Amino acid sequence: MNICFLMYPWDEIDPENDTSLALIHECVKRNHGVALCTPANLTIRNSVTSAFCTVVGRMEKVPSGLKSFYKQAKIREEMLPLAGFDVIFMRANPPLDPLMLNFLDSVKDDVFIVNSLQGLREANNKLYTAAFGDSHSNIIPVTHVSKNKKYLVQQIKESPAEKMILKPLNGFGGSGVILIEKSAMSNIKSLLDFYVTNSDGTSNYVILQEYIEGADQGDIRVLLLNGEPIGAMRRIPGSDDHRSNVSAGGSVAKHTLTREEKALCKQIGPKLVKDGLFFVGIDVIGGKLVEVNVMSPGGITYMNKVYKTKIQCQIIDFIESKVTAKLQAFDRRSRLRKEVEDA
Ligand SMILES: Nc1ncnc2c1ncn2[C@@H]1O[C@H](COP(=O)(O)OP(=O)(O)O)[C@@H](O)[C@H]1O
Ligand SMILES: [Mg+2]
Repeated sequence: MNICFLMYPWDEIDPENDTSLALIHECVKRNHGVALCTPANLTIRNSVTSAFCTVVGRMEKVPSGLKSFYKQAKIREEMLPLAGFDVIFMRANPPLDPLMLNFLDSVKDDVFIVNSLQGLREANNKLYTAAFGDSHSNIIPVTHVSKNKKYLVQQIKESPAEKMILKPLNGFGGSGVILIEKSAMSNIKSLLDFYVTNSDGTSNYVILQEYIEGADQGDIRVLLLNGEPIGAMRRIPGSDDHRSNVSAGGSVAKHTLTREEKALCKQIGPKLVKDGLFFVGIDVIGGKLVEVNVMSPGGITYMNKVYKTKIQCQIIDFIESKVTAKLQAFDRRSRLRKEVEDA
């Protein structure tokens, strides 16, 4: 099959820890055609949606390690039509550019897109979890999303807990996620001014969330494929930070899913599949769902290291089975059409 990774540029890949590179590596090992393109490289050429792609050449002998694969891979630039690929694998970092989805709309019937455009539209920011319909906070921590600073201040004042989390809707890697404390109320209005109101007069929604006790022991990242967990790890914050993201200094350890965490996956899995969210990473603290990452979930390389697994194999197996089913359906339809035509 031919697969296009819609992601960041090849030279921004971290060859040691990059989940996208692990997926690319597995595809090249299986002799699939692989190309990368960035959202900025999407182009319409003579009415055909195309992209300036970085094509990763096929290799006779593919190095087994990610670092040497990255070093030895032969890449070249080429403009290619997107509908010629079997798969587009979305691996771009948030925020999602809605225009990029409009480009992809034109090829969505021809190409299997992971995650689906519908799913990406619905779940590309933290509103997806905030609006899960869990009004009793059984699986989601108490969450407010608003631009109304008065409302937000009121919620902080009325919160039974001393600590709360404030975060932007569109961040990733822990950026902008701050811990606020009621005892330091004098800073809060200024913080809300900063988060909500931009200098050009526009404004942003922010998330104000109950601080989940136990978060200092780390959070749990679970990778789900087609609604089922395929890997999990604990991310433990560094000594001088409250956030567990590895990019914010967190470290990684093995984790076996608890009964509560398995039940959470079971509860949300069918919705993820229904929304076309085939490959996602969820962040769980104290059994509660903090975030669903659908754009470019990471963690494979860390899980592989601590468990000595190759999680990417399961993901590429799944994608291959989707592509095979699509090609078989196409063949069948062509045969049946011909039968009717020849009658
Ligand atoms: N409600 C919360 N209670 C405690 N810690 C939180 C909460 N929300 C976020 N955090 C901490 O901040 C980190 C980043 O938050 P998250 O919502 O996952 O945003 P990002 O998209 O930046 O990863 C989490 O992994 C966790 O360590
Ligand atoms: Mg997160």
